[in-house]
Amino acid sequence: MGLGFYLTQHIAKIDKRRSSCCKLQLVLDEAETLSPLLGASGDLAKKKTFPALFGLYKNHYLDANTQIIGYARTKMDQATFEGHISKYIKLKTDEDRQALPKFLKLCSYQDGQYDKDNDFQQLEKSIEKLEKASGATARLFYMALPPSVFIPVATSIKHNNYKKGVITRLIVEKPFGMDLESSRKLAKDLGALFTEEEIYRIDHYLGKEMVKNLMILRFANVIFGSVWNRHSIDNIQITFKEKIGTEGRGGYFDEFGIIRDVMQNHLLQILTLIAMEPPVSLGAEDVRDEKVKVLRYIPPIAKNDVLLGQYTKSEDGKEPGYLDDKTVPKGSKTPTYAAATLFIQNERWTGVPFILKCGKALNQQKTEIRIQFKDVSGNMFTNLARNEIVIRVQPNEAVYVKIMNKEPGLGMKTVISDLDLSYSSRFDNALDAAWKIFTPILKTIDQGEIEPIPYAFGSRGPHGVAEFVAKHGYERS
Ligand code: NDP
Ligand code: BG6
Repeated sequence: MGLGFYLTQHIAKIDKRRSSCCKLQLVLDEAETLSPLLGASGDLAKKKTFPALFGLYKNHYLDANTQIIGYARTKMDQATFEGHISKYIKLKTDEDRQALPKFLKLCSYQDGQYDKDNDFQQLEKSIEKLEKASGATARLFYMALPPSVFIPVATSIKHNNYKKGVITRLIVEKPFGMDLESSRKLAKDLGALFTEEEIYRIDHYLGKEMVKNLMILRFANVIFGSVWNRHSIDNIQITFKEKIGTEGRGGYFDEFGIIRDVMQNHLLQILTLIAMEPPVSLGAEDVRDEKVKVLRYIPPIAKNDVLLGQYTKSEDGKEPGYLDDKTVPKGSKTPTYAAATLFIQNERWTGVPFILKCGKALNQQKTEIRIQFKDVSGNMFTNLARNEIVIRVQPNEAVYVKIMNKEPGLGMKTVISDLDLSYSSRFDNALDAAWKIFTPILKTIDQGEIEPIPYAFGSRGPHGVAEFVAKHGYERS
């Protein structure tokens, strides 16, 4: 089956003019695949890509003849490479333990620079050798790399590893540029090298089970449909929290900051799925069209609708601050925490704040969507908490609704309780529109006009977050 299944399940096409996900699946289903993974020494490769590839392999979704070549500048022998890519692979069963050595046999490593034809010709030799031995007939180049090297790498591939008659695909990770202008340039430069059909842009949040579930929750349940609008909803929060700091990724991170790293892509994608109108079908173009419409109704974020933070040492002094990371430039003002409020000025959402919050080195790891409803009007009860629908994306996917109940006993006291619908226990236009919302505020931030507030590693975030969300209407129950 090649990598087709992986692409359909985990790779969402953004800004596409055709539903090429399906097309690619069809193409690759018939081909055995060879996958050079560029940036194989990095964080993404180690934490996500190789564990995901192993998951596909052990579940028999990867053709046994698929070959994976890791490529990066770091020099590594095969044993070191295997250690690197196995580090985050979880072996839960005997079957897993037996499958890992077999999977590792499909993986090899080659070092080289990103802009040297010679090194890519060496890569070409390895590819051809493996193709001959395995019968692989398609090449899937996966760029697990900082965007600054996307174009040099794509150019090297085009010059040295692109062959007529061989199916070639290029998978590009976010962030797609630094702002509107650079994203347009990136699209133009990539477009000069590869056809739109050959390029896949991915956002791994769209592969998460609960994010995929959002459309079903909204459009396949009549009870949610009629309240999903400004008449019933007071505010919506989308929160991403991580316990880890930059951990040696500071060099990459400092160039981008948390807004470009997480908010402008992962959180904005979630927002569009919550806010969009029902698409005509589940087809990629129909969904994409509705998402773009939502984005176009969002004006650029105002300066006083943003709060920034940067983490310092943990209170016990054990965990380093952001500026202690040796890869971070001295005195950097790059935010590692951001809260921003967006408004969608259309008939459904006018006046409803969408509060996006994301941060590293916080007290817990959690991604969740919290939809808070308005107060009950003309009510005879006092101290009522508001209804909320909470969709927890990770960890432990869940959906629960906070509703008021009578407190058991003689009186008529109300109490808030959770109606648990837990999940696990029961079973180029879009890019432009997204950057238009964030580019002006990012320029303001890059010019140092919004000072990040320090917060301790492992804390709940900078002071003022609670006031920030309260300012936009959120009431703690
Ligand atoms: P890393 O910083 O780990 O970089 C990946 C590899 O690229 C490094 O091992 C290094 O390899 C090479 N590299 C790093 N900096 C440079 C540079 N300035 N110039 C040339 N090569 C460099 O990044 P990640 O793996 O974390 O991320 C890669 C991409 O994936 C990014 O676009 C990121 O946004 C995206 N992403 C990351 C996720 C994650 O969880 N980490 C999740 C989803 C997307 P070497 O020096 O050996 O050549
Ligand atoms: C990536 C960011 O896109 O998403 C990382 O570059 C972040 O900084 C990661 O850690 C989080 O992904 P997940 O799936 O672990 O929530």
